[in-house]
Amino acid sequence: MKKEILQLLRQNSEQISGEKLSSALGVSRVTIWKHIKGLIAHGYDIAATAKGYQLVNDPDTPFAWEDPDRYERIHYFESVESTMDVARDLARKGCSHLTIVVADLQGEGRGRMRRVWHSDHGGLYFTIVLRLAMPPQHIGRVNFYASSILAEILREDYGVEANVKWPNDILVDGRKLCGMLSELEAEGGMVTFLNIGIGINVNNDPTPLEPKATSLKRLLHRSIMRKELLAAFLDRFEQNLEFAMSEAVIDRWKTYNATLGNFVTVVTHNETIEGRAVDVDSDGALLVEQPDGTIKKMIYGDCFHSPNVN
Ligand code: BTN
Repeated sequence: MKKEILQLLRQNSEQISGEKLSSALGVSRVTIWKHIKGLIAHGYDIAATAKGYQLVNDPDTPFAWEDPDRYERIHYFESVESTMDVARDLARKGCSHLTIVVADLQGEGRGRMRRVWHSDHGGLYFTIVLRLAMPPQHIGRVNFYASSILAEILREDYGVEANVKWPNDILVDGRKLCGMLSELEAEGGMVTFLNIGIGINVNNDPTPLEPKATSLKRLLHRSIMRKELLAAFLDRFEQNLEFAMSEAVIDRWKTYNATLGNFVTVVTHNETIEGRAVDVDSDGALLVEQPDGTIKKMIYGDCFHSPNVN
């Protein structure tokens, strides 16, 4: 009911009477008032006068009813420890393909390589549950698809020069705007679920603890509607998941990559490799040419660029 009321309020720049709303939606005026009160409690600025109701301001909260097409699939939380944990629980309980868990705050946001992902108010934090029939070794392609799409949206819709640093960090002017983390479970050589978690610095201020980070607000000098960014991402992401599983996705990623050609240091849990990033293979592994000319294939790790070293 909330999504229908909002739709009608948004269609009317003037006040709309309770009577009109109740006849359009086939419910009593008392029911309308109950839902309007609910929306106000959720932060919607709705003027209620004797003449009717008018939407004055929308909160930037990705409530499920804000995305009617995905209403059944979006699980919004004000605060969780990590959307990855909630998504994993839902996936284990059999939730549907393309379930989305999104939160305003994370108490224990997780980054790659067991790092903390600071998740203050204003950032966009979400995890998508995917059930794709694919062997685990190809999941890198889906992550590459997600980061390419996000880079495209940031460029086309927000005008920021977003690049992708291997494997899937989004950078603008060398500063990190977004990070991705994925987790999977597999059975019989096939993925049961793949969860992709994405953290985007939107309106939050990255702390001095993250000196090499930036946010969209910092770059654009204005606040961005997170719910619009989320919907834009999901629209494009869900459009072509067949492509996401194909080798061709790597070429798309290369269009936006900031890593290839650079001298890099790649740190994993048990080794540090230095050399020139020469290519990524069909599953997204980074190929690093070491000083002795041998090529080392890195399937995970933190990658640091040293563009000035020849
Ligand atoms: C990284 O760059 O280290 C990956 C960061 C991933 C952060 C996102 S925020 C949503 C999801 N929930 C988490 O706890 N982590 C991911």
